[in-house]
Amino acid sequence: MSKSVLVSVAWPYANGPRHIGHVAGFGVPSDVFARYQRMSGAEVLMISGTDEHGTPLLVQADKEGVSVRDLADRYNRQIVEDLAGLGLSYDLFTRTTTRNHYSVVQELFRGLHDNGYMLRETMMGAVSPTTGRTLPDRYIEGTCPICGADGARGDQCDNCGNQLDPADLINPVSKINGETPEFRETEHFLLDLPSLADALGDWLRTRDSWRPNVLKFSLNLLDDLRPRAMTRDIDWGIPIPVEGWQDNNAKKLYVWFDAVVGYLSASIEWAYRSGEPEAWRKFWNDPETSGYYFMGKDNITFHSQIWPAELLGYAGKGAKGGETGELGELNLPTEVVSSEFLTMSGSKFSSSKGVVIYVKDFLKEFGADPLRYFISIAGPENHDTDFTWDEFVRRVNNELANGWGNLVNRTVSMAHKNFGEVPAPGAVTESDQKLLDLASATFDSAAANLAESKFRNALSEIMHVVGEANAYIAEQEPWKLAKDETQRERLATVLWTALQVVSDCNVMLTPFLPHTAQQVHETLGRDGVWAALPKVVEVADDMPVELVGTGLPEEGRTYPVIMGNYDAQLATWRRVEVEPGTKLEKPKPLITKLDPELAETGPEWAPVNPTS
Ligand code: MF3
Ligand code: ZN
Repeated sequence: MSKSVLVSVAWPYANGPRHIGHVAGFGVPSDVFARYQRMSGAEVLMISGTDEHGTPLLVQADKEGVSVRDLADRYNRQIVEDLAGLGLSYDLFTRTTTRNHYSVVQELFRGLHDNGYMLRETMMGAVSPTTGRTLPDRYIEGTCPICGADGARGDQCDNCGNQLDPADLINPVSKINGETPEFRETEHFLLDLPSLADALGDWLRTRDSWRPNVLKFSLNLLDDLRPRAMTRDIDWGIPIPVEGWQDNNAKKLYVWFDAVVGYLSASIEWAYRSGEPEAWRKFWNDPETSGYYFMGKDNITFHSQIWPAELLGYAGKGAKGGETGELGELNLPTEVVSSEFLTMSGSKFSSSKGVVIYVKDFLKEFGADPLRYFISIAGPENHDTDFTWDEFVRRVNNELANGWGNLVNRTVSMAHKNFGEVPAPGAVTESDQKLLDLASATFDSAAANLAESKFRNALSEIMHVVGEANAYIAEQEPWKLAKDETQRERLATVLWTALQVVSDCNVMLTPFLPHTAQQVHETLGRDGVWAALPKVVEVADDMPVELVGTGLPEEGRTYPVIMGNYDAQLATWRRVEVEPGTKLEKPKPLITKLDPELAETGPEWAPVNPTS
């Protein structure tokens, strides 16, 4: 039986189009991983959606002067286009404003509440003295009371990683207008993290395959676990499913309580939409299934602490015991794979400061694979990295175009010109064998790296084979062999060897460059879908909802989702033998070289030196 792998990808806020920093963190790495897993025979479920509640959306809606619902609809659609355009192979990319999501979130809350892990407490909440409105935690800044860093937010200090309450901050100010907030009493439900701490610690200590920095960070969080509010004074969110609270429009569930449950609700929606409503259980109730979670580093806490705590409490596994809820015992994350940040000329991407490169502009001008390549080879896998047009141009021109594109082009052109088909080889020499052996060994070594989410290493190894293949051709000089009738068999052997290695590299590059891989597959005279691409489908919110379900969104609204039929693709992670006699056409150019001037100026829509 093939193994099952859940690929859980962080949910982008629907508060704007995606920029390349976002997709470097969660998008491209998760897709490379999922595509590799499918090619190696695993049954994969890759899910995500837009995160549509919480203050990030409210603040943006205020700014644009539109209703938050319209804002969410508009950016959900935009983000679906951005991610599908990049070729990200979600089995389902949905949203958090569906009836199903509301009811699954409420079921998790109910389970935790019934088991005693939701504490009802009165606490101090920040209010704006000028407007009387509640100030969200994230929009209050001050000095961290624990490490003393400036710029700590009301929910968390990014410097030391500790969770905070706004009332703890020294010299708190509102980020919205700079005023000093007032603090007033307010009642909330808090997740009882202290009574889940032992269970969390026991589980975390079994996670020895995590990247060491992620594990250490997560274990450190256990030292200062306090109950954490899972409800907010806000009118945009999921109703709190408790008598006396559910009709109170001024209080909703905290966006982070709701968003992480999305992994589960999206899996349930996927099962429904694929006609097998129980199919999600294999990915959640079967302990043999592994779950990989992909995100930027600012999301670690919620995936290594809050989400596991929700799952443990729902299963009655904390110090207070309890029953397992109706959805059964749910798997905790196997791996939390986090990326660092992609910066631009040293600064964090920021739409408001104009330091931004939107995915949609990038795709329109350069297509998906050059960006996927750049992120995989030079992205923020282990440390913050800087995007520059100079490096982008250099990598696309030298590595993709002169390296890979040129190898495919000249190999297939020469075979086409001299034989019109894949030639049959004669005796294989030591240098032919050496190249073939390198390619075949790289299938194993790159696979080992990909299985551990070491994307940069995997891609470097594959590009090394590309480089060796180019060197082999330079050395064998097939253009000279072609001029000598007596060397026809040697020419056939060299081109056959080169074609086999082109095919091998193309197989291994498929998770990184799915669009290009399909084109190379066809260039090699092969048919069918090699690498499947996602599709955007319009669906209605008509799924039957059986769980708690209070204050659900209206039924029947339509929205776009990303889905795909990835089972139908031919791609597998192994050598596909090239067949002598396969007809070859003259190849079309594979990679467009970029104008070197772009390196200095950047494109008009993201100039290196903005004038004015
Ligand atoms: N919307 C959050 C962000 O952009 C990520 C949510 S990940 C989820 O930081 F899992 F919680 F959905
Ligand atoms: Zn701190």
